[in-house]
Amino acid sequence: MSYMEDFAKIVKEQLDRVERMKEDTGATDFASKEKIIIGMIDGDGIGPVIMESARAILKKLLAEEIETGRLELRKIQGLTIENRIEKMETVPGDVLAAIKQCDLLLKGPTTTPGRGDGRPNLESANVTLRRELDLFANVRPVKIPEKDIDWIFYRENTEGEYALGSRGVDISEDMSIDFKVTTRQGTERLARAAFEYARANGKKNVSIVTKANIMKKTDGRFLSICLQVAEEYQEIKVDDWYVDIMAANLIDDKINSGFEVFILPNLYGDIITDEAAQMQGGVGTAGSANIGNRYAMFEAIHGSAPRMIEEGIGEYANPASLCRAAIMMLRHMGSGFSNKADRLEKVLDQAAEDLNMPGDGTGNTAEEFKAFVLERL
Ligand code: IPM
Ligand code: MG
Repeated sequence: MSYMEDFAKIVKEQLDRVERMKEDTGATDFASKEKIIIGMIDGDGIGPVIMESARAILKKLLAEEIETGRLELRKIQGLTIENRIEKMETVPGDVLAAIKQCDLLLKGPTTTPGRGDGRPNLESANVTLRRELDLFANVRPVKIPEKDIDWIFYRENTEGEYALGSRGVDISEDMSIDFKVTTRQGTERLARAAFEYARANGKKNVSIVTKANIMKKTDGRFLSICLQVAEEYQEIKVDDWYVDIMAANLIDDKINSGFEVFILPNLYGDIITDEAAQMQGGVGTAGSANIGNRYAMFEAIHGSAPRMIEEGIGEYANPASLCRAAIMMLRHMGSGFSNKADRLEKVLDQAAEDLNMPGDGTGNTAEEFKAFVLERL
């Protein structure tokens, strides 16, 4: 029975990953780095359209640092669905090598073939990159000022259902099995990142979200490790919730403004952050950071919108989410860049007020968005 051998191999790989995590030496200090290379990955669909705006905006905002050689904006080519299918690699080897030469990445959306759409069953490029670059924390802020909501989600980004998402097995004609993985090291580093953020930013509440009543081993471990880490942060109030009721809590205006920092395993984090982003004004309005110790990647939370391209309305794609991701990147680079982040944020807030970008081929174009931002920077 070959799937028994497959399973043994999977277990061994995951145990090896645990050993690698044990050896990890901690986060890069960007402030003391002489040169920071920012790789810019267009992606596909509307990706090139919104990246064109983001690149022009960053070029202006960071002109000084680019001039002195402290920063480089480097175009990374080839992470397109066409090239990936041609090479039959989720992230083609030469593209991955180029990516690994960078420190930080700003990434447009990349198309993932779905089951039954006639294309080869490639893994999501996001998932591959998060795994290859060990980007363990997916950090997603959501703010709704009129409701006094200021949330930040720490989603585990390399484990759970995603670690082996493309490695499930069709056991027979009638049955399939997928795998879910939780490790102590993987959970601990995420929980610590969330609690450190809470402490550094004066947040008083951290909520842990699982389904540990059902997924007793994986989510059970996740929850108990988060609670252990919490003990080191006595000043912070910790509660834990099951993901179903948390989905309800988010839209309960009597209590939702009380939540501050969330810690979630991968899949629940995926779902809950789309819900939260929708409350903020749509999944196109949120930014997303994928943070590891060596690398970090910043991306728009939305997909590649192939329909907009098919309908010929790609020029109406909204670069706001990708630009929000760029702000998170600037903040990640340390306090030396926070002024620039603030400046860009102010202009983006203005753009959100003044421009109208519903994404249906009416309203303002990406080009107009870019001009609006460049003029006010
Ligand atoms: C996200 C996306 C991805 C995910 C997809 C594109 C694989 O939904 O970043 O939230 O599920 O993580
Ligand atoms: Mg998602």
